[in-house]
Amino acid sequence: MGGILVIGSYNRDTVLRLVRFPAPGETLTALGMAEFHGGKGSNQAVAAVRAGGRVGLIAALGDDAAGEAARRLWAAEGIEAGAVLTANAPTGAATILLDAAGENQIIILPGANAALTLAPGFTAPTDVAVALAQLETPQAATTALFRGLTGARRILNVAPAAPIAPELLSVTDMLVLNETEAAILAQREAEPADLALALAAETMRDVIVTAGAIGAFWARPDGVVIDAAPPRITVADSTGAGDAFLGAFAAFSTEGFTPEKTLRLAVTAGALACTLEGAVPSLPYRAAILAQG
Ligand code: RIB
Repeated sequence: MGGILVIGSYNRDTVLRLVRFPAPGETLTALGMAEFHGGKGSNQAVAAVRAGGRVGLIAALGDDAAGEAARRLWAAEGIEAGAVLTANAPTGAATILLDAAGENQIIILPGANAALTLAPGFTAPTDVAVALAQLETPQAATTALFRGLTGARRILNVAPAAPIAPELLSVTDMLVLNETEAAILAQREAEPADLALALAAETMRDVIVTAGAIGAFWARPDGVVIDAAPPRITVADSTGAGDAFLGAFAAFSTEGFTPEKTLRLAVTAGALACTLEGAVPSLPYRAAILAQG
């Protein structure tokens, strides 16, 4: 079984619990505050290792307490973090507004994430089955990594939504994004399956669009779509649901499951990640995913 290599961000997440989101110009009082490990790259690496994958991570941290905490997290989770750089900038940070329905609004301050590059002389490992990246770190570093990983399935999570550089798209095999990000990329509102099909036809890549409680839609450029629905859950906090999906998808796709089963397991992981507050505390473990997927 090949391994999973994640390139991406680490953020220290500060979560403010609210009854509802503020309107522009409005001041609200929070119900409470909590701090968690976060960042889409780190979250996806943790999700993949908890789903049973063998995981390496390339990231950039500041020389500060948050950076040290990140390294302790990865060591505790069993993530290979030898290629993580220390940058001349503070560790990334995110402020997350969480409303009573478990929906969120996220603002990131990239810090060290913006300085991520491949270390001089870096050579990609030869046993990578799946490579995962997002858009919270520079596209140039992801492009350089993906270019050296021609034998792997190279997955780009288009989050936060942004235009994809042609050089990066040319070395990417699959795009994964949520319905909001898909609508931004497609520049129109539509059903998630239609957005997946349109983006697959436009990019000539496999495209998965995730759609919360509705599930996920995996479209191929030839027009074939498969879908999966999640188990019913009570949403406490949807932060990290997409990361749980990506990490589980990567881990289970190294194991020879059918595409349908892999998608169902990933959707289940995403749903389970909504049942607890905070990104990392809610990322589910393999046994729970297999039991409900
Ligand atoms: O996907 C959730 C993550 O987005 C949070 O952990 C936050 O840090 C931002 O990167």
